[in-house]
Amino acid sequence: MREEENLSLFITFEGPEGSGKTTQMELLSGYLEEKGYSALATREPGGTSIGDQIRAVLLDTHNTEMLPASEALLFSAARAQIVNRVIRPHLAQGGIVLCDRYADSTLAYQGYGHGLDLEMLHTITALATEELKPDLTIYLDIDVEEGLRRKLAAHKAGKTEWNRMDRQETAFHRRVRDGYLQMAAREPDRWLVIDATQPLEAIQALIRARVEAKLDARCSR
Ligand code: TYD
Repeated sequence: MREEENLSLFITFEGPEGSGKTTQMELLSGYLEEKGYSALATREPGGTSIGDQIRAVLLDTHNTEMLPASEALLFSAARAQIVNRVIRPHLAQGGIVLCDRYADSTLAYQGYGHGLDLEMLHTITALATEELKPDLTIYLDIDVEEGLRRKLAAHKAGKTEWNRMDRQETAFHRRVRDGYLQMAAREPDRWLVIDATQPLEAIQALIRARVEAKLDARCSR
C-alpha cells in the first residue's frame, strides 16, 4: 500500500439494471491495484456473511409478498453490516473502497421506485451508514428497456440471475432511473454520470480520469 494515510477514497457504482456497472467496477479495481493502491471491491446487498443471508431473502423470487418498507429495512440492515465491518475498516487504513450499489440504490428503488418517503429513507440510511457518504458516485445511465434487454440476455447466457427486483414492471424501473438522474443533478460534484451505451473502454477511460483527479486532489492536500 502507498504511504500516504489520507488517500482513502470511497467510490460507489450505481445504475439501473443492465448498465454494466459491475464490469466497470472490476476493471477499475484491477487498474488501481496495478498502480499500487489497496483497492477493495465489494457489493450490496452482501459483502458480509449476514449481508449475504439478507441478500438471499431480498432477491428470492418466491418472496412476492415483501412490502417496500421491509425491503428498505433489509437493504439497510445489510448495509449497516458492510459499512461497519468492511468499508470503514478499509478506509481507516487509507485504502480505496469500490462498492457495487450503496445507499443511493435505496433512495432510487425503494424511494423513487416504490414511493417510500425520501426523508424517512435518509434517516434510516444515516443510521445504517453511520453517516458515511461516498466521495464519488459513478452512475451508468441506460434506457430502461435497453438495460432490461441486456440483463435478460446475460441471464439467458447463464451470466447473471433474474431476481425479484428485475421482475418489477417497466414503469417501476423508469421511476428508478428518473430518481437517479434527479439525485445526480442535485449533487454534480459527487456524481459522475456516464452514458452506458458507449464502448466499454471509453466508459472505463472516463471513470479513470475522474478517479485520478480525485486521487491527485487528495495527494496535494
Ligand atoms: P443484483 O443482482 O446485485 O443486481 P445489479 O447487478 O443490478 O446490482 O441485485 C440487486 C438488486 O437489488 C437490484 O435490482 C437493485 C436492488 N436494490 C434495491 O432495490 N435497493 C438497495 O438498497 C440495493 C442495494 C439494491
